[in-house]
Amino acid sequence: MSKKVLIATVKPFAPAAVEGIREVLTKAGYELSVLEKYESQDELIAAVADVDAMIIRSDKATKEVIEAAKNLKVIVRAGAGFDNIDCAACTERGVVAMNTPGQNSNAVAELALGMMVFLARNGFNGKAGSELKGKKIGIHAYGNVGRNVGRVAKGFGMEVYAFDPFMSKEQIEEAGAIAIETVEELYSTCDYVSLHIPANVHTKGSINYDLVNRMPKGGVLVNTARKEVIDEAGLVKLMADRDDIKYISDVAPDNAAEYAQFDGRYFFTPKKMGAQTAEANINAGIAGANQIVNFIENGDEKFRVNK
Ligand code: 3PG
Repeated sequence: MSKKVLIATVKPFAPAAVEGIREVLTKAGYELSVLEKYESQDELIAAVADVDAMIIRSDKATKEVIEAAKNLKVIVRAGAGFDNIDCAACTERGVVAMNTPGQNSNAVAELALGMMVFLARNGFNGKAGSELKGKKIGIHAYGNVGRNVGRVAKGFGMEVYAFDPFMSKEQIEEAGAIAIETVEELYSTCDYVSLHIPANVHTKGSINYDLVNRMPKGGVLVNTARKEVIDEAGLVKLMADRDDIKYISDVAPDNAAEYAQFDGRYFFTPKKMGAQTAEANINAGIAGANQIVNFIENGDEKFRVNK
């Protein structure tokens, strides 16, 4: 019997990405169904009932979803962060969970720099702003996205520093940034800090008052990672205490209303936009489809993220 694959995306891929996925799956003899812009978890739960594999984005693959997908063998998060997948539930049910690292990194990096320019130019309000050239950017976690941010930042003439607890000084420097040994030093050194840490038990709420308060005058925190890594109350308190600190985030924090008092010092995208380009959708979506076929046909678990 041919395998059934579901694309479940509240935030749809560009049409060309769905077509690319369809091509890969059709060639393998698989059937594709697509659930886009669904409004409740119940719709997702109903759609997974008979699928062998699924491709999602930031969609919530909860324990309930995994348990309802009785035939599920593999779930691919087309993207980097997999905090939206209940990995323990996957393991318990013998489901392999994967991500597609690197496939959407350039899109996220371009957005990070784009938002930095937007804020540095006062939201294009006609007043004199500032330039990125010559400023120091600190990359907090130097993985696929962080390295792309570094590459684009160099194009702007920025000095690129990086801290990554899982990389040696030599590895960071080989990958093109000036290595900083402690997270505290990254914040006290850099005019801009760009976050690229995953959201997990170790990082949630870790970007707090004391850390961001180390930034020099005029410091800008740039978050294209996850809102959950920010200690939201702490950051609002810091921005109230220091009227020079600015915050940019790809997707509004839960306490966004409290930022109204900081006019001109923050910018939030209305929807998570980092990976929302046709190129990133095509790269991540097609990589996901190939990973599904390689896993089902050859047992290839290269991009597995659950233990
Ligand atoms: C990722 O983790 O890859 C990005 O945050 C993209 O998320 P999205 O697919 O929901 O846009």
